[in-house]
Amino acid sequence: MIRTAAIAILLATTLTAQAADPAPAKGDPAKGKAIAETVCGACHGPDGNSPAPVNPQLAGQIEEYIYKQLKDFKGADGKPAARMNPIMAGMAAPLTDADMRNLAAWFAGQKAKPSAAKDESQIALGQKIWRQGDFKKGIPACAGCHGPAGAGMPAQYPKLAGQFAEYTEAQLKAFRVGERANDPEKMMRMIAGKLSDAEIKAVSDYAAGLR
Ligand code: HEC
Ligand code: HEC
Repeated sequence: MIRTAAIAILLATTLTAQAADPAPAKGDPAKGKAIAETVCGACHGPDGNSPAPVNPQLAGQIEEYIYKQLKDFKGADGKPAARMNPIMAGMAAPLTDADMRNLAAWFAGQKAKPSAAKDESQIALGQKIWRQGDFKKGIPACAGCHGPAGAGMPAQYPKLAGQFAEYTEAQLKAFRVGERANDPEKMMRMIAGKLSDAEIKAVSDYAAGLR
């Protein structure tokens, strides 16, 4: 009897010690790969090269940005998710913090397949907004935060180069009306609020062609 109790206590202590282990600060891409192949791959491609424009490219995206988006989709402590999307809410719900870090490490380490701008007639306008913004309208250059070649900047600023133009356009419109509101200090909501439909289309197409 006493022996059984002692073992039970020992077991409980070990389990508690394991549960209290802090999540690893750096993700493990091999563990992320296993989840990516079984769960995320159907929509984003197992290596993050997505087959369809509604599902954003994740290959080569900034690691911390991916992790933040997964946390924002999931929400915490009963609070509503910071980024609302019914599909991704369902995907993020079962993920642990370590899963999210591992997935971020996996997708960030993958190579993106090159893509191209589609609308030649819009390149001049897209390039102007990307590189200079529009001083009179108070639009800052996208390059200032997302990088001259759209590669993004760790930790906050996502890569936009090679992203589907349709997805970028949809996100800019969502920021503009405040439907997407998880940007720190309303950075993107303020900028998108000043962009016209034509400017959004042009800059989204331009970013798709950056590499
Ligand atoms: C059924 C399709 C589907 C599956 C499966 C799926 N996603 Fe998504 N994912 C989407 C869609 C659609 C969006 C775009 C949401 C929006 O429009 O805001 C998205 C967006 C994202 C984003 C935000 C990207 C960005 O640039 O902001 C991340 C990160 C992400 N998904 C990761 C994952 C991970 C990790 C998994 C696997 C655990 C996964 N997704 C599974 C459809 C899916
Ligand atoms: C002051 C810095 C800053 C500038 C300038 C800026 N952005 Fe952003 N952008 C951000 C941040 C920060 C995020 C990430 C928001 C989050 O954490 O969800 C972001 C996110 C985005 C996203 C969402 C990407 C995704 O994968 O879902 C798009 C699209 C975007 N920006 C487009 C632009 C365009 C186009 C311009 C130029 C007109 C621009 N940004 C200028 C800071 C900036």
